Amino acid sequence: MKILIKNIQELLQTRAEHLEMISGADMKLLPKIDDAFLLIEDETILAYGKMEDCPAEDQNINQVIDAQGCVVLPTWVDSHTHLVYAGNRTLEFVDRINGLSYEEIFNRGGGILNSAKKLQETSEEELYQQSKIRLEEIIAQGTGAVEIKSGYGLTVESELKMLRVIQRLKKNYPIAIKATFLGAHAFPSEYKDNHTGYIDLIVNEMIPAIARENLADYIDAFLETGYFSVEETERILEVGKKYGLRAKIHVNQFTAIGGIAACVKHNALSVDHLEIVTDEDIEVLKNSRTMPVALPTCSYFISIPYTPAKKMLAAGLPLALASDSNPGTTPSGNMNFVVATACIKMKLTPEEAINAATINGAYAMGVGTTHGSITKGKKASIIITKPLHSFYEIPYAFASNLIDTVILNGKIQPYKN
Ligand code: NIG
Ligand code: FE
Repeated sequence: MKILIKNIQELLQTRAEHLEMISGADMKLLPKIDDAFLLIEDETILAYGKMEDCPAEDQNINQVIDAQGCVVLPTWVDSHTHLVYAGNRTLEFVDRINGLSYEEIFNRGGGILNSAKKLQETSEEELYQQSKIRLEEIIAQGTGAVEIKSGYGLTVESELKMLRVIQRLKKNYPIAIKATFLGAHAFPSEYKDNHTGYIDLIVNEMIPAIARENLADYIDAFLETGYFSVEETERILEVGKKYGLRAKIHVNQFTAIGGIAACVKHNALSVDHLEIVTDEDIEVLKNSRTMPVALPTCSYFISIPYTPAKKMLAAGLPLALASDSNPGTTPSGNMNFVVATACIKMKLTPEEAINAATINGAYAMGVGTTHGSITKGKKASIIITKPLHSFYEIPYAFASNLIDTVILNGKIQPYKN
C-alpha cells in the first residue's frame, strides 16, 4: 500500500539521518522543504523531497492526497501523561478559583488521593472505557506517541489495574505507547506516618508483580517536598533498575531539593516539570544523558511558574515539551496548545517548540528511532494541517483546530475533534 502526499506547502522536521536529540542554539533550526512530496509505503516513510522530484502517479500508488496550502509534520510525541484516570476533579478546579491552592487541596485529602479513591472504586473495564475516549481525542489532535503513567492506584491491585488498562490501549490502538509505573505518586493516608511501610510495599510487592507481567517500561516518583524525598526516591529507583525500569521523574515542580542531581546520578531518561530550576541544576544536567521536560500547560492551569526554558537553552541544554494530561493539574492532552503555550509564555520560537515536541519528546520516551522526524524508514505517523499561511500559525492560532488529517503507521485515522 502506497500513499503519495503531494503539493505540500511546508514539510517540517525533515532529517536525512536519525538525530538523537537537539540542544541549545541548534533548537532554533527546524529543517523544512517548501513545495514538497511525501511517499508512504505500508507503515513507513519511503521517500520525500521537492515536488520537482515527485514520483509519477502510476498504478504503484494506491492513494494520492493533494496537500496544496497545507503543512505536513511528524505527529507530536507526548512523553509525559497520566491519561488513564477515573472521573474528574472539577470541584477542586472551582475550589482553586475560589482561592485554595493545589497544596491546600492536597493537605485536605484531595488532589492525587481524591483521584486514587475514585480509581480504586472503578472497574478495569470502566477505566478502559473512560481512558480510550481521551486517547482517541489526542490522536485526533495529532499525537502519534504517548507515555502513560500509573500512580492513581496506590495499592498493588489498583496500580496493576491501571497498567493493564495501558497495555490494553497499546494493543488496540496504532498510537505508540510506553507505560510508566508511578506507585510513588503520593503516600496513601494510611501510610502518612509510615513512609517506610509504603516504600516496602512498592519495592517488595508492586515492582516484582509489574515485572512478572511485563507491564511497565519506566519508573517514576513525585520527588517533591511533602511527597517523596531524595532518599526515598533513590531507594525506589535502585530496585526499579534491578528490574530493568529506567527512571523518568517528576521533580522540581514546587521546590528544588537536590532531586535533579539524584536523577542524573541514576541515569534517568528524563526529569520532568522543572518549574523551579537552580544554576546548580543546570550544571548537573549539562553533559548528562537526561532530557529535561517542560509541561507548560500544567503551569498555565494551576498558575505556577513556567520552566525557565530560555535560560536552559542558553546554557546549551536540550528541552522536550509534554502535556502532563491528568485530572488535577492539566485536564488536556492537546499538544498543539502545549506548543502554543511554550511559545506564548516561555518565549520559545515555533522552531524550538516543534523540535521540543517531536525529536526531543521521542528521546524522552525512548521512541526516537521510529518517531519524531520525517526520516526514511521511520513510522509514517504524520499530521496534515488545514490550509495555513505558514507553520507559525500552529502556535499563533492557539485555540483553533488546525488539523485536517492524522496518519499513524501509514493509516488515516478516523478520530475527529
Ligand atoms: O504531574 N505533580 C504530580 N503529578 C501530576 C498531578 C497529579 C494530580 O494532581 O493528580 C502532575 O502534575
Ligand atoms: Fe505529571
